[in-house]
Amino acid sequence: MLSRAPFVDTHGRVVRDLRISVTDRCNLRCVYCMPAEGMPWLPREQLLTYEELARFARICVECGVRGIRLTGGEPTVRQDLPVLVRMLRAISPALDLSLTTNALELAGMADELRGAGIDRVNVSLDTLSRERFHAISRRDRLADVLAGLAAAKRAGFSPVKVNAVLMRGTNDDEAVPLARWARGEGYELRFVEWMPLDFQHQWDRNRLVPADDILAALERALPLLPVPPEDGDDPSSPARTWRYRDGVGRVGIIASVTKPFCGQCDRIRLTADGQIRTCLFAHREHDVRHAMRSGAGDDAIEAIVRAAVLRKAPGHLVGQAGFVQPARGMSAIGG
Ligand code: 5AD
Ligand code: SF4
Repeated sequence: MLSRAPFVDTHGRVVRDLRISVTDRCNLRCVYCMPAEGMPWLPREQLLTYEELARFARICVECGVRGIRLTGGEPTVRQDLPVLVRMLRAISPALDLSLTTNALELAGMADELRGAGIDRVNVSLDTLSRERFHAISRRDRLADVLAGLAAAKRAGFSPVKVNAVLMRGTNDDEAVPLARWARGEGYELRFVEWMPLDFQHQWDRNRLVPADDILAALERALPLLPVPPEDGDDPSSPARTWRYRDGVGRVGIIASVTKPFCGQCDRIRLTADGQIRTCLFAHREHDVRHAMRSGAGDDAIEAIVRAAVLRKAPGHLVGQAGFVQPARGMSAIGG
C-alpha cells in the first residue's frame, strides 16, 4: 500500500492516523460542543462527496496512514454512511477503521456498519442519569444510547469504548459510577478532559476536572494497575490506561489539557468541507476541496497534505497565556 513517502513533520512525527469528519450536523446539542439553537450548518454542496472522501483516504493510506476514524458532528446522521465505510474498507483490508458516535442510531445500524468494515467504535456518554443526560445533551435520549451500546457489543465490535467528559458541578461525581458500570458491561471507559472547542466559547478552566483528580477518585474506590504504554493496544493512543487488579477490564484518561501529548501526535484531520487541520487547536486550514474540484491529480493532493504536515505546530497552548480558541468548534473540526 505504501507507494508514496510518509508524511513527516519538522519535529519528526509521522502521520499514521486520519480523522474524517463526514458531517458537522448532530442529533444532540451537548453543552460543551454546540449552542441549543442556531448552529450555522455547512451548506450541503460544500461537503466532500463519498467519492472525494475515499480518494483522499486512499492517497493518505498510500502515504502510510494506518488508521481512519470517522467522526462528525455525528457521523451516523449522514445519509448512507455504510456506503462510505465499504469504500474505505476496499482501500485496504489492513486499515484500522473506527467510528466515534453518540450511539443514538447504533441500535439500528451496528450490524450494517460492522458488515461494511468498521472495526471499532467509541461511544460518547457522560452520565448514567437520565436527567443529567438530558441537561448535558439537551435531548432526553439516554435509553437510545444504552441500546446503541448494547447493539455495538452484540455486533462484535472489539473493543467498545465509551468516552466521558466530566464537568465540575455537572457530572464530576460520576467518575467511579461510570467506571463500575463500564467494567460490568464490558466497555472500555476513557475520561476525556474538557477542551475549549465549543462554538459558544464558554469553556471554563475552573470547571475542567483534571486527569489527576479523576485518577485519585478512581484509585480511592477501585484497585488499579497502570498499563505501560507499550502494552496498550495502541501505543500512539493519547490515553493513559489502567487495568483493574483482578484482570477484568481497563480504564483510561485522556489529559489533553493538563498533560498534552502533542509530542507523540500522529494525526491529521479532514473537516467535512474538505479542509486539512493538523491539530484540533490549529487556526490554519489547508483546502483540499478546492483542489479536488478543480481537477488536481493525486500527486497535487499529496503535496497539499505534505505541506500542511510540514507546518504542523509542535504543540497546543491550551491553558497558557496567549491561547486563542479556534474559530470553528469540535463538531465542525471532527473529534
Ligand atoms: N472537550 C472534550 N471532549 C469533547 N467532545 C466534544 N466536545 C468536547 C470538548 N469540548 C467529545 C465528545 C465525543 C468526542 C467526539 O469528543 O464527547 O466523545
Ligand atoms: Fe453531537 Fe458529539 Fe457535539 Fe454532543 S459532542 S453535540 S454528540 S457532535
